[in-house]
Amino acid sequence: MATIKFDMVIRGGKVIDPEFGFGKDATILINDGKIAGIEIESPELKKQIDKLPKDKIVDASGKLVVPGLVDIHVHLREPGREDEETVVSGCRAAAAGGFTSICCMPNTTPRIDSQEAVKFVQDRAKDADARVFVVGAITKNIEGKELAEIGDLVKVGAVAITDDGNYVQNPEIMRRAMEYSRMFDIPVMEHAEDQFLSTGSVMNESFQSTRLGLPGTPSVAEEIAVLRDIALSRLTGARIHIQHISTKETVEAIRTAKKEGLRVTCEATPHHLILTDEEIGKKFNTNLRVNPPLRSAKDRDAVIEGLMDGTIDCIASDHAPHSAEEKDCEFDQAPPGMIGLETTLGLIKAFLIDKGLLSWADAIRKMTINPAKILDLNCGTLAVGAEADITIIDPDKQWTVKPKEFFSLSRNTPFDGYKLSARVYKTILGGRIVFER
Ligand code: DOR
Repeated sequence: MATIKFDMVIRGGKVIDPEFGFGKDATILINDGKIAGIEIESPELKKQIDKLPKDKIVDASGKLVVPGLVDIHVHLREPGREDEETVVSGCRAAAAGGFTSICCMPNTTPRIDSQEAVKFVQDRAKDADARVFVVGAITKNIEGKELAEIGDLVKVGAVAITDDGNYVQNPEIMRRAMEYSRMFDIPVMEHAEDQFLSTGSVMNESFQSTRLGLPGTPSVAEEIAVLRDIALSRLTGARIHIQHISTKETVEAIRTAKKEGLRVTCEATPHHLILTDEEIGKKFNTNLRVNPPLRSAKDRDAVIEGLMDGTIDCIASDHAPHSAEEKDCEFDQAPPGMIGLETTLGLIKAFLIDKGLLSWADAIRKMTINPAKILDLNCGTLAVGAEADITIIDPDKQWTVKPKEFFSLSRNTPFDGYKLSARVYKTILGGRIVFER
């Protein structure tokens, strides 16, 4: 073996890198913050490792060692609502949840629709515990009326555009946004919700909303939005990424679009893969209010099926912090959103992997290389030369969700008290241990 230079190792764990094979016990060699090699330890290598300082040898026996997780849908509330989340606190929560790269959404106050706003977030993220990729707005103030200066946003590093939280209701504006996006070959991320059909609603339109007397959004509000943008992608050739998909019809529409060869990708959140609108009537827990709303069991099952057959490319948390004051009110008065960075991995293990619906390899693929490829991010892999962003997972660790222990500044999760079955052991960012339990 040619000698590989290294200054840190992770040994004893089962390495899962979706790009290069699965489930092998191997030692990861790191040099100067980058992956230097993945090796089965020979006696010579063992001797070399023994010369390292003890704190540079990470023992991962009995653990899974995977590329640092990537979450392409996160709301950091800075600027504007630093009481709910800052860039630094959101990155701390990300590290605790095993995420080394996150993409932040532009619906802050002010919005991320200018070069200054992109640079502000990038600056705040400089020494944080995760890499932050900024997604800029499609339209000024995410109002859907006038395009943001998309070229300017891309010039300073925006990796995609979205008006997340709002749907770009005007198809002519969306067409032009897609045409611009092609000039830079960035994806347009789409919050798919026809607002004429959803205005005033607080949950899914269903038997449950009728029973509870709450106004509902029909699932067709999402389907119409998605079908329009698939048609616009066909017209313009733009890459589109449908965010937080929640309905059976959306899964079918995307499956068909992919078969046609259109440049369409999509994500699902843990909550749409696990919960249904039936939960709402049980506790009226305002943390169950989310956009798009929790749907029926038929929709939830279709989203799981889409994840299993590859229609859904990746899992994203849609981490959406809200303060206790804002959520401590009647169900219909609460703002939509729930946090997810610190529960996503454990939820996916307990509700999908443990139930035999997803393998570890597929789950890791959908939380690393797949999301990275959707946005052309330089992460999500253990390839030699890549940044040493690594997550070490205790794959059978039983734990109970206790929001008061979260690193996020917000506590709005409906999964309080849930018993989960895998947990992050250590998170490594560029060869630096940023989180350990
Ligand atoms: O539930 C949601 N909350 N959905 C969104 O699209 C926006 C998010 C937020 O910013 O709170």
